[in-house]
Amino acid sequence: MRAGWRGLVDGIFEPLGPREISGLLPRGGTILGTSRTNPYKLDDGVERVLANFQEQGFDALVAIGGEDTLGVAARMFEEHDFPVVGVPKTIDNDLSATDYTFGFDTAVSICTEAIDRLHTTAESHNRVMVVEVMGRHTGWIAVMSGIAGGADVILIPEQPITVEQACAEIMSRHERGKDFSIVVVSEGYELSYESGERRQVTQEVATDEFGHVRFGGVGHELAQDIEERTGFETRVTVLGHVQRGGSPTPRDRVLATRYGLKAADLVDEGRFGLMAALQGDSIVDVSLAEATKELKTVPEDWYAVAKAFFG
Ligand code: F6P
Repeated sequence: MRAGWRGLVDGIFEPLGPREISGLLPRGGTILGTSRTNPYKLDDGVERVLANFQEQGFDALVAIGGEDTLGVAARMFEEHDFPVVGVPKTIDNDLSATDYTFGFDTAVSICTEAIDRLHTTAESHNRVMVVEVMGRHTGWIAVMSGIAGGADVILIPEQPITVEQACAEIMSRHERGKDFSIVVVSEGYELSYESGERRQVTQEVATDEFGHVRFGGVGHELAQDIEERTGFETRVTVLGHVQRGGSPTPRDRVLATRYGLKAADLVDEGRFGLMAALQGDSIVDVSLAEATKELKTVPEDWYAVAKAFFG
């Protein structure tokens, strides 16, 4: 079906055969289209999904997405015994029970390249460059691209160091003769101050059907704070949806291919309510409930790797 859960709510279907899917490997995004539709938030949404599914005579649904798409899948399986299997796809890498989601590696690679490029201006102009990356509730993209790009400070939602601490790292670096710095910040980082004040920067107050606010903008406020407190000229780059575009990395292409085959096997075996997952180097199946019960946040030991190179 097209457009994620909206396709099943509104009955928007399109047959997919080998011809339609050929040549997809180098393409980003989805040829099926997507939406932020939550059937549980619409009048008769779930009933319409069930009715359309039955009317079409479908045997199984493969839900491809992150916490929202798969959260609905888990609930539909739990409450309606809906024949669904999941494939973990989100740049955020925040689904539990899998080591990696596909899309993440591509986003990290785009951010790393951006950080590399921003080093040029940072060094030439002796500036602090703040890079704001996506990752609504978790700092996976920030931590991985920050480590890969040699960031001097990384700020993430789940382990928020204060603005003062970030400035101290920058100051000590400059005192050691390095007169430029790269700061990576997750869009979901709450500005935190020694006084105890915390401030979340969002674009609008309204939430989507899954209850999410739209982030974007914390980089600008952080840059202003850094410039005021350190006296160093500071600039900001918000990478935004650039992170979700372009051709996927080989790693993501291989991972998506392996997930797809696993999902097909699960459907073939009639094993529903499960999600394809990567654990170590093996593709396994885990329950959708387990994968979506809580977000996979950046653990302390991963942040410690990043922190070892701060300042
Ligand atoms: O969940 C993926 C994601 O890219 C988040 O990192 C980001 O906060 C959000 O989607 C942006 O959503 P939209 O494209 O609807 O603005």
